[in-house]
Amino acid sequence: MSKKILILSGDGIGPEIVSEAVNVLQAVDCSFGLDLELEDGLLGGAALDVHGEPCPQITLDQARSAEAILLGAVGGPKWDAAERQLRPERGLLKIRSELQLFGNLRPALLYPQLADASSLKPEVVAGLDILIVRELTGGIYFGEPRGIRTLDNGEREGFNTYRYSESEVRRIGHLAFDAARKRNGRVCSVDKANVLEATVLWREVMDELAPQYPDVELSHMYVDNAAMQLVMRPKQFDVIVTGNMFGDILSDAAAMLTGSIGMLPSASLDKDGRGMYEPCHGSAPDIAGQDKANPLATILSVAMMLRYTLAAPQAAEAIETAVSRVLDSGLRTADIASEGMRVVGTREMGAAVLAAL
Ligand code: NAD
Ligand code: IPM
Ligand code: MN
Repeated sequence: MSKKILILSGDGIGPEIVSEAVNVLQAVDCSFGLDLELEDGLLGGAALDVHGEPCPQITLDQARSAEAILLGAVGGPKWDAAERQLRPERGLLKIRSELQLFGNLRPALLYPQLADASSLKPEVVAGLDILIVRELTGGIYFGEPRGIRTLDNGEREGFNTYRYSESEVRRIGHLAFDAARKRNGRVCSVDKANVLEATVLWREVMDELAPQYPDVELSHMYVDNAAMQLVMRPKQFDVIVTGNMFGDILSDAAAMLTGSIGMLPSASLDKDGRGMYEPCHGSAPDIAGQDKANPLATILSVAMMLRYTLAAPQAAEAIETAVSRVLDSGLRTADIASEGMRVVGTREMGAAVLAAL
């Protein structure tokens, strides 16, 4: 039976980059005989415009019956004034939560060809290979109570709740330790245990898990220091495991080490390894519709889908090798351009990857 893949292009540059990634997915489907069936759906502003909500039931139904989901990005100025509950970003949070996609893998891998594109010195980033494991369905993003209320003195107050249960920490911890086993055997858990109780518990639970992984070395770091260490000596890290908000922030920083946010793919997995795959960047309204966006993060997200959900590691490798070859050839989108390179648009970059396959 064929495997259904749900395609959610989303907003802004979403449709442009997803279209290139879909071409790549269809090409490996053919050459590796994967028997995939692609179906389109709506999420974010695109869904709000049609259905009046950013993550309608129909999208959730499609998502639940799919093996994997490919997402572009959501959000943009058109919907910034929408009611809080209806913002495109809420749609993304809802689908992550409804499908219990708690394990967000964000690999920051420097392609050697891009050492010049990084904002850091080439020797600081050469060989960089970090995996950020971000908890995605808990923490301050989802904690209740939350809202904006008016106080007795008439002034308004915004509030959110940072909370993590033991079992939530445990399951993301296991994911990180397991990942480290297949890599260089080191997990750095990032928290703010000097201030926030929710992360005091986080640290305790990570320590409790460690004896089950005697072959993995666990260390702890405060998030402010981690931000500093990431730009000072990034290669000290193997796996970083952290909560929802810290992971969001640190992964954007890590992305720049690899040359551009346009290079960073991600997988968001549930307990059974089903998942949603998307670039870490947003809908980039400033360049939407201009054929300027880098499609490689989305194309590399397809490779992650093949590896993690579709059990087709050779197809994944074929895509990663094709991307590397294209970079060898000197082709660059504007965000990763450096001297002497040929700058191309989204479509030409996508076509080049397809040709290299
Ligand atoms: P952004 O990631 O969209 O853009 C930040 C900067 O990076 C911009 O200058 C943009 O042009 C550039 N950039 C991003 N992706 C790129 C690519 N593939 N190629 C070249 N350049 C790229 O972040 P933002 O501007 O803070 O947010 C814009 C909108 O996207 C907001 O509505 C935000 O909520 C949303 N957002 C969505 C997601 C998601 O869907 N997963 C993630 C982050 C932000
Ligand atoms: C991301 C984004 C989202 C997040 C937003 C758009 C809800 O920044 O996927 O990194 O904060 O998780
Ligand atoms: Mn983000």
